Amino acid sequence: MELKATSGEGIDSWREVILIYNAALKQVQTKIEILNDEFQHVHRYNPIEHIKARIKTAESIVKKLKRQGYESTIDNMVKYINDIAGIRVICSFTSDIERIASMIEKQRDIRVLAVKDYLTFPKASGYKSYHMIVTVPVYLSDRIVDTKVEIQIRTVAMDFWASVEHKIHYKFEGDAPEHIRNELVECARMVSDLDARMLQLNNEILAIIQEREKKDET
Ligand code: GTP
Ligand code: MG
Repeated sequence: MELKATSGEGIDSWREVILIYNAALKQVQTKIEILNDEFQHVHRYNPIEHIKARIKTAESIVKKLKRQGYESTIDNMVKYINDIAGIRVICSFTSDIERIASMIEKQRDIRVLAVKDYLTFPKASGYKSYHMIVTVPVYLSDRIVDTKVEIQIRTVAMDFWASVEHKIHYKFEGDAPEHIRNELVECARMVSDLDARMLQLNNEILAIIQEREKKDET
């Protein structure tokens, strides 16, 4: 896969660019893991189930640039592709999503460029997730490069739905039969319902535990 390098931006080779995105990805992943560990220490509870990190393939980058009408240059990919470095944070409950997002926002060296709240405003497909495009400074030997990372935060249930929907979307090249699309929207509704019920259940359990602890103290 060939990407033409153009002059001027300081980032002059494909390998170097990928090295920088990899560094940014590692940094954000570590930051999120530290926040999770700290949260576990303070609240005796892990908001994060697991984290998935990936670098977009050269093929996908070129395809996306083409789709957006840009020439395949390194300058263009750095400028226009926001999800070269991508992190998915999977949590148990919808309440964890806001918690994680606000902990990330508060990090001094992270700058939030954009947020898409598909939690409050789900997509027509039924897709729910909280997206952030952030930059993190990558310290090289001779300079600091603010590098973009896409963070997607969602529940286990939303992630299950999204992975199945993605597969179907891919299989039908975006043109799935109507009854399948309708069924997926219905499944998304069930996912939302399940997430709400699990959150309610968890809150009830926490209240009972707290009550018992209070009793034990007296
Ligand atoms: P992309 O060009 O696909 O990156 O989308 P975008 O630039 O319009 O940004 P958006 O925040 O809408 O989507 C970013 C990413 O979220 C996608 O690449 C997918 O990983 C995920 N996503 C968004 N919408 C859907 C959806 O309807 N279904 C699934 N399965 N994933 C979605
Ligand atoms: Mg994407």
